[in-house]
Amino acid sequence: VVKPKVKWLGTPINDLKRMPECGGLLPPLRNVPGQHTVMIQTDLLESGNVSVAYPAKFKDTWDDVHVKMPCSSWNLFPVQDEVMVQLSVKEKLIRTFANAILKYSNSQAKKWDFTALRLYCTKVNNIHPIPLLKRGMNHSITMSQEQVACLLANAFFCTFPRRNSRRNEYGNYPDINFFRLFEGSSPKKIEKLKTLMCYFKSVTEQKPSGLVTFTRKSLDKPLNWKSSQTRLTKLHITCEGTIEDDGYGMLQVDFANKFVGGGVTSSGLVQEEIRFLINPELIVSRLFTEALDHNECVIITGTQQYSTYTGYAQTYQWDGSHQDTTPRDGWQRRCTEIVAIDALQFKNFLEQFKPEKLNRELNKAYCGFARSEQRSQHLAAVATGNWGCGVFGGDARLKALLQMLAAAEAGRDVAYFTFGDSQLMTDVHEMHSFLTESEIGVGEVYDLLRQYNSSVCRSCLSRRPDVSLYSFIYQQVSSSLAPDDSDGGSARH
Ligand code: AR6
Repeated sequence: VVKPKVKWLGTPINDLKRMPECGGLLPPLRNVPGQHTVMIQTDLLESGNVSVAYPAKFKDTWDDVHVKMPCSSWNLFPVQDEVMVQLSVKEKLIRTFANAILKYSNSQAKKWDFTALRLYCTKVNNIHPIPLLKRGMNHSITMSQEQVACLLANAFFCTFPRRNSRRNEYGNYPDINFFRLFEGSSPKKIEKLKTLMCYFKSVTEQKPSGLVTFTRKSLDKPLNWKSSQTRLTKLHITCEGTIEDDGYGMLQVDFANKFVGGGVTSSGLVQEEIRFLINPELIVSRLFTEALDHNECVIITGTQQYSTYTGYAQTYQWDGSHQDTTPRDGWQRRCTEIVAIDALQFKNFLEQFKPEKLNRELNKAYCGFARSEQRSQHLAAVATGNWGCGVFGGDARLKALLQMLAAAEAGRDVAYFTFGDSQLMTDVHEMHSFLTESEIGVGEVYDLLRQYNSSVCRSCLSRRPDVSLYSFIYQQVSSSLAPDDSDGGSARH
């Protein structure tokens, strides 16, 4: 008799909270200087019109707190004439365009005048300067999907000034211009281009009509994990499905690089890059998000999925266009919330159990999951998986525990996707049930992790510990639960 294969364990996924059902009321969308830059006219939001840019008139800036824009009059283009002059790129484009027309109708060249065209090009501008989300800032930017599309078209044509080399003021920012996507003959690049072309085709055929918010957030002070009394929350764990498909409406984790999007505009093609390809609006975050610090994350709400895919990494293939029917919230954003948190990369397996590394990963995840301004009842579950355990070499059993602690502290349940690993599903489920039934809270689990490091990892001479983390935890807890003659009872403290 063949036993039916178990595909999931723990709490049924439909018992976990999702947006928009679980959400509280959104405050009105407003531009708040120093906190929230809103790039559209919000008074038109109620009528569903999000396509009017705010401020209406283009404000030209060229400084170190805003993105340097292609259309800025300070964006100069060297022209080699009899004398070396510099033209603004915009002027250069206007001249190129006019010259192309004149070349074709040569005899008219003397009579035609292009003033109206020039005025048109200087008047029509849909985007105002975008603030840079620098290290340490807590700031949101909300823009329309149409503005995002315009920025991505510029990225495709590599027009963002000062962004083609890392040796300038944007050295600590991800690449935004797409030039690396065009190089080399790897078949992976072709599939990436197909996926992006599908996006451009879709947004040019039918203008998307919603908004997207990008929020950079830092944790002001690290948590005291040891003293936490918080109990673990619910866990659904499955070896089937993906974060993006089955975690709809949940807080979806992007297994990020500190340069958000990682290798999406070059050769990377794992979890983060794939997500950025099928939801390309995510790519715009690279334009203004400085590298993430240890206590920071980026939250992106409202992006749309335009493509489906098959395979993974080397076998990745674009699989056609996708109609995203995710409902929109009161700010006209798709109810898709993605949080970019970058795990640490471990070359040495034992390294990750060191106290400072445990703290770093816990605080990073907590920064991504916690929403201090919202009540726990309104928070969707976290949809996550083997964060930091692919390219970054972390241990999935440790990372699953750390994420469960961070989620518990943030007041959220967890949906965990093991990406095909059924042994991991069983192990993590058993550990979660054991801890829950033994009423072991966050602080105690944290303490067990510290003990594991000091009694197993520190004295370990080989590359791998000889006692696994989970068996250590089972051993420790059951020996502390065992009857102790000295106080005649079963008290565990
Ligand atoms: N849903 C659930 N789990 C997934 C999915 C998915 N859609 N895709 C992959 N996994 P990895 P990292 C599982 O290596 O180790 C990027 O370049 C699968 O088991 O992408 O944190 C970033 O930009 C996979 O092995 O994350 C960073 O530079 C595991 O998740 C770097 O990779 C880890 O995926 C981050 O590496």
